[in-house]
Formats: sequence, C-alpha cells, structure tokens
Amino acid sequence: MDNQKYFYIETWGCQMNEEDSEKLSGMLKNMGYAKTEEKKKSSIIIFNTCCVRENAELKVYGNLGALKALKEKNSDLIIAVCGCMMQQEGMAEAIIKKYPFVDIIFGTHNAHMFPEYLNRTRQENKSIIEVWDKEKGIVEGLPIDRESNTKAFVTIMYGCNNFCTYCIVPYVRGRERSRTPEEIEKEIMELVDKGYKEVTLLGQNVNSYGKDLVPSFSFADLLKRLNNIDGIERIRFMTSHPKDLTDDVIDAVAECSKLCDHIHLPVQSGSSKILKEMNRKYTREEYLSLVNKIKAKIPGVALTTDIIVGFPGETEEDFSDTLSLVSEVEYDSAFTFLYSTRKGTPACEFETQVSEEVKRERFNRLVEEVNRACAKKNKEYEGRTVKVLVEGTSKSDDEKLMGRTETSKLVNFAGNKNNIGKIVNVKITKAQTFSLLGEEI
Ligand code: SAH
Ligand code: SF4
Ligand code: F3S
Repeated sequence: MDNQKYFYIETWGCQMNEEDSEKLSGMLKNMGYAKTEEKKKSSIIIFNTCCVRENAELKVYGNLGALKALKEKNSDLIIAVCGCMMQQEGMAEAIIKKYPFVDIIFGTHNAHMFPEYLNRTRQENKSIIEVWDKEKGIVEGLPIDRESNTKAFVTIMYGCNNFCTYCIVPYVRGRERSRTPEEIEKEIMELVDKGYKEVTLLGQNVNSYGKDLVPSFSFADLLKRLNNIDGIERIRFMTSHPKDLTDDVIDAVAECSKLCDHIHLPVQSGSSKILKEMNRKYTREEYLSLVNKIKAKIPGVALTTDIIVGFPGETEEDFSDTLSLVSEVEYDSAFTFLYSTRKGTPACEFETQVSEEVKRERFNRLVEEVNRACAKKNKEYEGRTVKVLVEGTSKSDDEKLMGRTETSKLVNFAGNKNNIGKIVNVKITKAQTFSLLGEEI
C-alpha cells in the first residue's frame, strides 16, 4: 500500500504569493509529504489567496465551497487558507463562519509557522486562526520547492510603502523590508549550483531596494554586484515604480551583460489628473520622458506595463489620454485591469465611481490598442535570430520547445529536446499577437 501522504496547493495572485507557496511546499516536503495535483488524493489542501481585485476573492469563495464534500468524505483532511486575503480585517473570522470545515487560517506574515499550526490542529483537534497584523522582519533560510528548474524568482524586498489609492497590497503585505545583498547573493549562488540559468528579482517596488538597510545599499549597486555572479546567465527584476526608476538603474541595465533588456514599468493611467488621484507621484509627461530616456539608453528594450481602466473620476478625455499614451509608448505587452473597489483603500470612498458598463466598454477599446502595439512589436522579430532560454516542451505541441527571449517574448519552436535548460539561437519565422514561432539554428 502507498503510505505516502500528499498535499495540494493552489495559488492565486502575484509572484509574491507564488514564492510563499514554494516555501510552504518546501516545508511540507521536508516533513515527508509529496505534492499532488489531485485534491482527492491529498491529506492537506492549502489555498493561498489574493485580494488585489474582487474577482480574485470570488474565485477563492467558489473553490472553498467545493471542498466541503471532500472534507465530509475524509475527516482526516486538513484544509488551510492563507495569503493576502486573510490579512484583511475580519476576513479570517468571516471565512471560518462561512466554511467551518477550514482547519487552519494564517496570513502573509506568519507563513513560516505553518508546520507548527499543522501539528497543533492535529493534536488539539480544533481550528487554528492566526493572522499577524504586522510584519516581524524577514525569516531567512526556509526551504523553497521551486516550480521550474531553469528560472527562479528571488524576493529581494517585501512590502510596499507607496499607498496608491486603489491598492490593498500595502495593507496586506506591510512596510518595505529589504533582504541583505549577502543573503540575495548566497541564494543566487545556490541556484547556480543547482543549474538555474535565470533569476527574477522581486519586490513591489524594487527601485526602493536597500533604503531601509543600515548602511543603505542602492538597487543599482545590487544589480551590478549580482551581475558578477559566475554561472547565472540572465537577471530580470520587477516591479519598477516609475517615480523611483533612477538613471543609475537604467545605466546598469544598459551596461551589465546579464541584465535583460526588459523593464516592467506600470503606468496605470495616461492622464496626469488620474495619476494624481491615484497617488502615483508622476505625471504623464514625466512618465513619457522616462520612457524616451530608457529607449535611448537601451536600444531594443522591451517595455511592459499595468493599466487600470475606470478609476473613480476617469472621464472619456482621461481615458483617451491612456489610449494615446499606449499608442505612443508601443508596449511589448500590458496587463489591463478593470478598477475594482477595495475596502479600506482611499479610492473605495471616492464618490465618482465609474459604472461597470462604461468600464467594460473602455476596457475593450484599451485591449484592442494594446494588442495592436503588441502585434506590431512582435512583427519586428520576424527573420531575426534571437537567444532563447529553453524552458521545456511547448504547451500546445509536445514536439516543439518553448522558451523566452531576453526581452521576455514567448517563443514556440522546433529544436533539440536535449537543450532544455540551455540558451540556444532561434530564428523567428512568424510573429503572432502574443508569441513568436521559430526554429533552432
Ligand atoms: N507593485 C506593483 C504591482 C501591484 S499589484 C506595482 O506597483 O505595479 C499589480 C497590479 O494590479 C497593479 O499594477 C495595478 O495595475 C493592479 N491593481 C492593483 N489594485 C487594483 C484595483 N483595486 N483594481 C484594479 N487593478 C488593481
Ligand atoms: Fe500597490 Fe502602488 Fe504598492 Fe504597487 S506601488 S503594490 S500598486 S501601492
Ligand atoms: Fe500579490 Fe495579490 Fe497579494 S497581487 S501581494 S497576491 S494581494
């Protein structure tokens, strides 16, 4: 008989949550559990939740409701719910009331305590709700069970100090805390030893990295230091807040060979009036001049962005400013979102909320504009030979390989499977709206 015990983990939200889930998996594997994709086979089910927009929360509710039947069949099953959504006031209590079969609830600041909660709920045979309302420094040294073995996310700082008026992240992830350059360097060196070729440095606003360290340490200096690590081939970072992207960081990307020519630079809106209401601390003009500077210093750079449609008070004129900005910048890709009211954020109280109908109609027009630029950018790749880090076989066709260019373009191509995990030359034969086709040469 198979005595192996399994866990299932489902993750919503951004790479911060992905990384927390990799740590939860790492801890569970150290305890002897194996990971499964089947809820039915599991003795532990974890939902790592996100609350950045309302639809992220709705998904969690739907999925939680569906666990009731599993729990009724298997009373030994442990159900845990964690992540950003649990950090909201009153949420943990509301969840346990609505779904009394949940065994453990914890938040983003105490995920490292999970093994202890697991033991306690088994011993005491009762539900445990423990959400810390404040961050307590950084817990180093947790095992990480990573999804990929070619590229890895490395968090360089936690939390956010910016309080954009629409955003809940600062409330659920706490204030900015930077890891030391030594810890980051050590983690990347260990990744190199395991064969990883690419790292993405993560933070809500990586440009303010190190301001809280004593003595302080700049993000540009961190990039230059990491660029010297032997064996790592590509370094990316996200997210850059436009208000803090300084010349030394742009110069570092231009000069350091391993830093990928790609900058994710969320604009959120093309209207200076809306940007002010959002508390973004830059104007349309400042953003555009920053973009022009980046394009001049890093030829061929890929620029990607996040845009919110229908922020309170957004008029047709404000929205057309966003459209014209998108057409001027010509982003390589953009994440587009309908504004979602988040309780506890200032914008939630603004009286000038835009109707769902108007939001949707603008959203569709924006997506069209974004796709036009995206397709145009991709078209420029036709006939070119690019370097691709091969991640695995293609999702749509087993016979093909997939990977990304330095500029983060997804490429599906015919090539040698022995090259998975390596960087190869690929000739681009055809551009599609969201990806490129090619063949290894
Ligand atoms: N720290 C990053 C990412 C934060 S969350 C940054 O500053 O860019 C990712 C994206 O979600 C944001 O960039 C924003 O575009 C979007 N977002 C955040 N709150 C939102 C809300 N209430 N409604 C709609 N989109 C939102
Ligand atoms: Fe949210 Fe703004 Fe912080 Fe990004 S910078 S996480 S959008 S508050
Ligand atoms: Fe990320 Fe969602 Fe939390 S976007 S920081 S997982 S609220």
